Amino acid sequence: MLAGGLAAGVGVGFAPFGHVANAMARNVSSSTIGAGDAAILRFLAAAEILETDLWQQYNELGGVQDKELPGGSGSPLYREALEKLDEDMPQYIHDNTEDELTHETFINAYLESRGAEPVDLERFRTLPSSKASGAQQIGRLTNLMELTVDTSWWTRYRSHRKNPDFGDTFPQAVQGLVEGKFPAIPRSDKDLKPKNHIQAIANTAGFHFGTIEQGGTSLYPSLAQRVSDPEVLRVVLSIGPTEAMHLQTWADKAGNAPPLTDPTNGLVFPNLNEKPFGGEEFKTNLIMPEPTIFLKKSLPICSIVRPTKTQGAAMGAAEALTADGLFIGQSKEFFEALKELASAADAATRE
Ligand SMILES: [Fe+2]
Ligand SMILES: [Fe+2]
Repeated sequence: MLAGGLAAGVGVGFAPFGHVANAMARNVSSSTIGAGDAAILRFLAAAEILETDLWQQYNELGGVQDKELPGGSGSPLYREALEKLDEDMPQYIHDNTEDELTHETFINAYLESRGAEPVDLERFRTLPSSKASGAQQIGRLTNLMELTVDTSWWTRYRSHRKNPDFGDTFPQAVQGLVEGKFPAIPRSDKDLKPKNHIQAIANTAGFHFGTIEQGGTSLYPSLAQRVSDPEVLRVVLSIGPTEAMHLQTWADKAGNAPPLTDPTNGLVFPNLNEKPFGGEEFKTNLIMPEPTIFLKKSLPICSIVRPTKTQGAAMGAAEALTADGLFIGQSKEFFEALKELASAADAATRE
């Protein structure tokens, strides 16, 4: 059901001339946008399509399936493990999923309303679904079953001396997650036990949520700097901060992931409030961004999104998602298409 709904939202079924007429009636720009702005919006549309696909998989098993987000019927033991991070996790997963779906649908419709080509990735919907009870059996764009999760956003937003735009690097919150391939959803019902195994899968998801949303939080301001049309800028500046709202929530919830060792593979979730962790870089209640260096070290520190360097931002995002393991199993054509969208966005300059 949702797969069809998504397909209908991507590149087919729109009436571009109707959109233009509506836009004029509301006194919204209807003129054609430049190639650079279109390329930036097209990369963002692709990123949102991929985000929707991964969030939908989380929602089918761990979120709330309803009229807004049909598909799947939930995995009670996975959901219970997620609820250890916060009892409202299923609602938050639902709402993040819905937000991504509207980002995707809006940006593609907006592209068409301004005379530009929308993005359609349906031909790449070739990856398998989880075999766990509760998941739909449909083709997916992303793979949540072999993730290598970079959790350095955790310490990056707690550092007041370092900024990735200055070339600084940051320690991982969960070192093990970057040293292997781990499922963030149950791959089958076999993954539902033992207890610390399904909890480790839910913990992995809990950190992955933040990894994904910090990417969006940086991507929008990074690309906004090269947008030319004022209304396209308004679109980018209005969607970007919602990614930061997601990040803020997940930064809080990940801190509640129970410390444990997964008995099936040795993956360790440490107690981040205890030595050798703890302090400003790890403490779980420091969920607001620490101020840090920005633009020039001679300027006062400032609480900011980081990174926001615009050069190569789209390719950086594509590479980070790839390094995450999200596209394991995807075709050569998929990577070529993603690279092409990213290169075009990174070639855009402000007119
Ligand atoms: Fe989004
Ligand atoms: Fe997002």
